[in-house]
Amino acid sequence: MIDLAGYRVLVTGGSRGIGAACCRLFAKAGATVMVQYLASGARAKQVLDEIERISSQLHRPHRKVHCDVTDHDQIEELFAFVRREWGGLDGLVNNAGVWIHDPLVDLDKTKLEATLAVNVVGPFLCARQAVPLLRESHDGSIINISSTAGQRGEAFYSPYAASKGAMISATKSWSTELAPQIRVNAVAPGWVDTDMTAEALSGEGRAKALAAIPLQRIATAEDIAGAVLFLASPLARHITGEILNVNGGSVLIG
Ligand SMILES: NC(=O)c1ccc[n+]([C@@H]2O[C@H](COP(=O)([O-])OP(=O)(O)OC[C@H]3O[C@@H](n4cnc5c(N)ncnc54)[C@H](OP(=O)(O)O)[C@@H]3O)[C@@H](O)[C@H]2O)c1
Repeated sequence: MIDLAGYRVLVTGGSRGIGAACCRLFAKAGATVMVQYLASGARAKQVLDEIERISSQLHRPHRKVHCDVTDHDQIEELFAFVRREWGGLDGLVNNAGVWIHDPLVDLDKTKLEATLAVNVVGPFLCARQAVPLLRESHDGSIINISSTAGQRGEAFYSPYAASKGAMISATKSWSTELAPQIRVNAVAPGWVDTDMTAEALSGEGRAKALAAIPLQRIATAEDIAGAVLFLASPLARHITGEILNVNGGSVLIG
């Protein structure tokens, strides 16, 4: 039903977790994928190998690319690479992120700045570079990965919660600023089983998390990728400025 043949998408943080699941699902839907990574080169290569096996006939090749999303020069080079390789872009998934414990009473300025750099400055810089390319597409779109934390806050992780709240207001701002050529939406996951949450969701932490989720399950990365794929697809052609919660209902009761 969702056929993205010819669609070119860049997924930041495509080496692991939610980003890797997005890369796989986009490839299954026929899209051409750019897997951006920072430290996990070997895992990005695994994702690339996997999606190359999934795709039999593509007009353009999948690619993996190293880039620190906090570095303006590297981002400029990333989007120059996209243009050289593919001649344009149809979708940007701003997924790369960090979740850093930083209680306010002991606030660590380095951690605060690191969180804001990856989770806010990175998506802004990527979106800025993507816009000229997306404007040339017939259905360009940006999908930001936010969080339940951005809506209801998160004790002891307030820099993270603030960063994800920022991406909700950025999504709403960009959706009207960039219309009608580019749609902008966000997906807001709750707990997802990935490297990011492996420690927090072990032992008692898992039972505690489950108790606050009406659907009584922890999301897989694929659950989140499904929502991303939907928002990128023509099925969502009249949707912009939306924050799609994918959290089993947790945001309603937490
Ligand atoms: N897991 C959850 O429960 C959950 C819930 C709500 C929202 N989210 C959000 O979902 C997104 C993905 O989370 P995840 O759970 O998949 O995390 P993850 O497994 O920890 O993966 C994080 C990804 O971000 C990349 N990354 C980190 N810093 C980067 C930088 N400076 N430049 C470029 N790439 C960078 C990593 O690349 P390398 O490994 O190559 O360095 C990795 O691919 C994040 O924005 C996160 O905040 C997650």
